[in-house]
Amino acid sequence: MTYYPDRNIIIKYYFYWGDFLLYIGIDLGTSATKFLLVDETGKILNSISKEYPVIYPKSGWSEQDPNEWWNAVKTGVPELLKGFDGANVNGIGVAGQMHGLVVLDDNDNVIRNVIIWNDGRTAKETEYLNTVVGKKQLSKNTANIAFAGFTAPKLLWMKENEPENFKRISKIMLPKDYINYKLTGVHACDYSDASGMLLLDVKNKCWSQEMLKVCSVTKEQMPKLFESYDVIGNVKREIASELGINTVNVIAGAGDNAAAAIGTGTIGNGKCNISLGTSGTVFISSEKHGVDENNALHSFCHADSGFHLMGCILSAASCHKWICDKIFTETDYNKLEQEIDTSLLGKNELFFLPYLMGERSPINDTDATGMFIGLRPDTTRSQMLLAVLEGVSFAIRDNIEVAKAIGIDVKTSYICGGGAKSKLWRRILSNILNIELQIPNAEEGPGYGSAMLSIVGAGEYKNINECAEKLLTVKDNVLPEKELVNLYEERYNKFKQIYPAVKELYKKIKE
Ligand code: XUL
Repeated sequence: MTYYPDRNIIIKYYFYWGDFLLYIGIDLGTSATKFLLVDETGKILNSISKEYPVIYPKSGWSEQDPNEWWNAVKTGVPELLKGFDGANVNGIGVAGQMHGLVVLDDNDNVIRNVIIWNDGRTAKETEYLNTVVGKKQLSKNTANIAFAGFTAPKLLWMKENEPENFKRISKIMLPKDYINYKLTGVHACDYSDASGMLLLDVKNKCWSQEMLKVCSVTKEQMPKLFESYDVIGNVKREIASELGINTVNVIAGAGDNAAAAIGTGTIGNGKCNISLGTSGTVFISSEKHGVDENNALHSFCHADSGFHLMGCILSAASCHKWICDKIFTETDYNKLEQEIDTSLLGKNELFFLPYLMGERSPINDTDATGMFIGLRPDTTRSQMLLAVLEGVSFAIRDNIEVAKAIGIDVKTSYICGGGAKSKLWRRILSNILNIELQIPNAEEGPGYGSAMLSIVGAGEYKNINECAEKLLTVKDNVLPEKELVNLYEERYNKFKQIYPAVKELYKKIKE
């Protein structure tokens, strides 16, 4: 009989000799790029973050300069590797904010700033796609309808408003694909991220010729498609030496939500992950392709090679950041949270609509704005903060209700993202949704998921399932409390009446 030494003994032995393999997981976010250094057992050895601004050229518009992203990577990777041997890095995986339109000319110059995922300028183009091409046809071609943040309406906007720029487009890509392109020189995209362009035939995992035609672009301008854990190429020699690593493999990576789902274990059939990042998402994994018949939830490919349904609210932790930074000008978030009187939970008379950037799911309304309702002379800032945490949670509940309406009854969910670090917010959310929330060992969502994809890409594990089984555990959970669930049920019934009552007003006051 052959004796195979225990895997941990091998690992310790490797570590002793300094041969331990390292993986870099990158999460190209909206407020910052986050970097994780992980070993092959999934242990996080280091993490750093590089911030950059969002540019708001007009009300409801949002852009970023991709050079800022690339600079973040060029400075971030060497900083991440300080104190480690870069020669032990065996792979890189990048996850990124979805839907952003990155366009390069023949010389690989960026043509204009990237119109990012929460930009609302394309109301006209979205309307055109949904009414003239028609929701039915769009859904047939792509499994989805048009939402303002998606990439296809952005292409139509550019064609109409910046025809000179549009003519110069040689390559179209998504944010994380720009980083992969700078690293490897390979114009690639994975299926999960490509799903959010409204150019992919999601069910058949190929570009939709009809949609490319609608947007006046060609297949040659589009990236080559891969599964998320597939290796697309190697880091270019000159870039590798700048970063302090070898010419290691780069995998295709994933949209940030699909990567976060991998990082929390939302894999296979019927699992749910809720992310409280700049955006807030409800992500339901599925082995088979399926479409919400009303198209309120997106029907996208998953990074585990399956599919998922997803609802996305445009402003989640960003509402929290907005009220703390801009309105209260207080950077100590813990202090602000401790001011909240928890006996007010479920009884707060103040409501907040979290539509700071308009809203995507399920209301699809670029005119909607943020709003408090119920202010009184004795309203305190802690009541306002509580209303913000509750308002975001109610908006997440709107998406859980859509899932329920199509027969998906979510009973437990993983949770990740910056907002999920708040114990109070987790408690509020669990009670508003009446579901158990599970906190995974790695809270770094997309960064950890992309590191896992890279480990699988390197062949360390047979597949994502096996990798998740070995690497992931649940470290804590939050259970709904009956009394609060009842109180919040009443509050939610009131909350859901506010938007329909002001919907027309939003349009009028914009004119
Ligand atoms: C998902 C979406 C957001 C961004 C945020 O559809 O638009 O979650 O990916 O980075």
